[in-house]
Amino acid sequence: MKIAVFSTKPYDIQYLKDANRRTAYQFEFYEERLNLRTSPLAAGFEVVCVFVNDVLDAEVLQSLKAGGTRLVVLRSAGFNNVDLKVADELGISVRRVPAYSPNAVAEFAVGMILTLNRKIYRAYNRVRDGNFSLEGLLGFDLHESTVGLIGTGKIGTLTGQALSGFGCKLLGYDKYPNDHFRQIGGSYVELPELLAKSDIISLHCPLTAESYHMINAGALSAMKDGVMLINTSRGGLINAVAVTEALKSGKVGYLGLDVYEQEEDVFFEDRSNEIIHDDVLQRLLMFPNVVITSHQAFFTKTAMRNICETTVQNIVDFEQGKSTANELHAN
Ligand code: NAI
Repeated sequence: MKIAVFSTKPYDIQYLKDANRRTAYQFEFYEERLNLRTSPLAAGFEVVCVFVNDVLDAEVLQSLKAGGTRLVVLRSAGFNNVDLKVADELGISVRRVPAYSPNAVAEFAVGMILTLNRKIYRAYNRVRDGNFSLEGLLGFDLHESTVGLIGTGKIGTLTGQALSGFGCKLLGYDKYPNDHFRQIGGSYVELPELLAKSDIISLHCPLTAESYHMINAGALSAMKDGVMLINTSRGGLINAVAVTEALKSGKVGYLGLDVYEQEEDVFFEDRSNEIIHDDVLQRLLMFPNVVITSHQAFFTKTAMRNICETTVQNIVDFEQGKSTANELHAN
């Protein structure tokens, strides 16, 4: 089988080649993102392999179908970038990697909380510059702080579990509550109560039509003054303009973003010699209490190995006509 791999970085090539040792599929690696302009590159490939910022809307899927693509394999858990309804209509199978290392993302979310609270990013730069003052570095004890987790699936629960080790109280809001979160000491509440009571709010639910901009001006105004907001899930959960206003007023005291709604225009590339034409992102980067990373929460050796092994297995299963739980459909 011939597989066109989009959004390829050197680490993707290394881990996909390792995972492909026994199967010997023919990979063609493209650095380009998949979109309507680049979709002709996939012509003649039965399988297309994509990542989080590749675009698989109706037009792109139609173009892939016309080129003979029958399977799309996602090197990700999130699938908000794929029009599943159209994929179903076109008979293109879509398969993902549902869990490659929830620990990696949970550990990163906790890292962001510690970094922001204790201002480690500022201390690092300050000391390197010969400034040993503690002024402005005051943090708070996580012990007995209230953490609100929006989405208590695999990553949300692991984040809660780690934070309960620090002695945090855990509140959860989820459309589908589960016992595992209760077992780690979490209490489920409705969203308004979580927003009002949490010192730290961390987002771990998928981006859907329903959750789009769930953190908007109204939700922000319901939060505690000086709240810490962490998003390692998907950028579209937060209205970045509203959060900028909340940072200006002091309502949000700390912001940690590993994802950003317009990230496909900037993330994963070295833009250090360019002017970034995203005024909202530039404004966010100017606040001293904001830490932004480039969608790296997943990025561990374990996760890369699991992503690439499951991706190859998804292709094997498709080739053998097997339906599995990794297959995605609109309903
Ligand atoms: P999961 O499916 O185990 O958990 C998601 C939870 O969100 C479920 O319990 C579900 O019931 C809940 N949920 C769904 N819609 C909701 C809504 N509208 N409001 C509240 N809760 C809702 O998924 P997992 O593995 O924990 O991943 C969570 C998210 O993390 C993914 O959707 C993905 O967007 C993001 N992610 C980010 C990565 C990164 O590198 N930054 C890497 C991997 C995932």
